[in-house]
Amino acid sequence: MSVLEAIVEVRGLRKVYAAKPPVVAVDGIDLSVKDGEIYGLLGPNGAGKTTTISIATTRAVATSGSVCIAGVDVLKHAALARRSIGVVPQYNTLDRSCTVEENIQFHCLYFGMSRAEARTRTAQLLDQFRLTDKAKAYPASLSGGLAQRLQIARAIAHRPRVLFLDEPSAGLDPQSRIAMWEAVRGLRDEGITVVLTTHYMEEADELCDRLSIIDHGKILIEDTPAALKARIGGEKMVDLKLASTATARDLIAKLQSVAGVTGVETTADGVRVLVKAEDGIIERVVTASAGFGVRDLATTEPTLETVFIKMTGRELRE
Ligand SMILES: Nc1ncnc2c1ncn2[C@@H]1O[C@H](COP(=O)(O)OP(=O)(O)OP(=O)(O)O)[C@@H](O)[C@H]1O
Ligand SMILES: [Mg+2]
Repeated sequence: MSVLEAIVEVRGLRKVYAAKPPVVAVDGIDLSVKDGEIYGLLGPNGAGKTTTISIATTRAVATSGSVCIAGVDVLKHAALARRSIGVVPQYNTLDRSCTVEENIQFHCLYFGMSRAEARTRTAQLLDQFRLTDKAKAYPASLSGGLAQRLQIARAIAHRPRVLFLDEPSAGLDPQSRIAMWEAVRGLRDEGITVVLTTHYMEEADELCDRLSIIDHGKILIEDTPAALKARIGGEKMVDLKLASTATARDLIAKLQSVAGVTGVETTADGVRVLVKAEDGIIERVVTASAGFGVRDLATTEPTLETVFIKMTGRELRE
């Protein structure tokens, strides 16, 4: 990828925390985020997502490797890099002793705006994030969704090129989550590049232009959500519920020889058949299952969850 296209360049990033024994939190990560995209880091607890973001946003020091943001080496020129970076950390960092508008204003002043500029920018952000009627309120009185919107508004107040969001929808109700997605898409429309971490497959699928699946400090796979799902072979899952699991072994043996079936395994109440998404496949599975006491049948399209399980051998939240 050319330097112009990539606004975030991570090369050979490693982070070993000094502990007994030492913890390798990030184990050689390379990634390039294109200018203007929404990029996701998807991974289980302890995968190294927060550590990666902390280093990229100058909040932690790498053991080795490099991070460049908008052409600036973050590790060598932290203060300069911070002008291009906005961050919403995993945990709420609003100043509880300041009002909503003061939280934004003080951020503007910290980044060198005049008082007049800070006031104008704050009013504009309160309006953009629909927080104007909460201007004089204190963070403790805000709902989770509003507090998250305020954190985002504050993080972009100095007009960074890249916004990092660490688990932006953790703990939000579904409605607030959707409002947050809209706000994030709005930022992309403004030209802000967004890098986010998430545990929510649906969020990664809906929101991210590209994403990587990260586990044990390494990137396992990276692509667009659609390409990731296609990579697992255009497969579908067919779950057959049986009257009695006593017949499952024989059914599995029979299904294994059906054209288009790529895998069969037992489930608690029947069998799960992995099939190629092709014409006639369901009919062939049903025909082969005749006489085995099939009580129910459900088909599932591949999701990022399926991709994740295939890549890591386990579910995202254990
Ligand atoms: N300050 C620290 N000292 C020692 N080990 C740490 C420290 N911070 C994180 N770790 C360890 O580094 C690994 C990566 O942690 P990190 O917080 O980056 O993961 P994560 O992907 O953000 O996880 P989560 O989904 O829980 O937020 C974990 O094993 C964690 O226990
Ligand atoms: Mg984290």
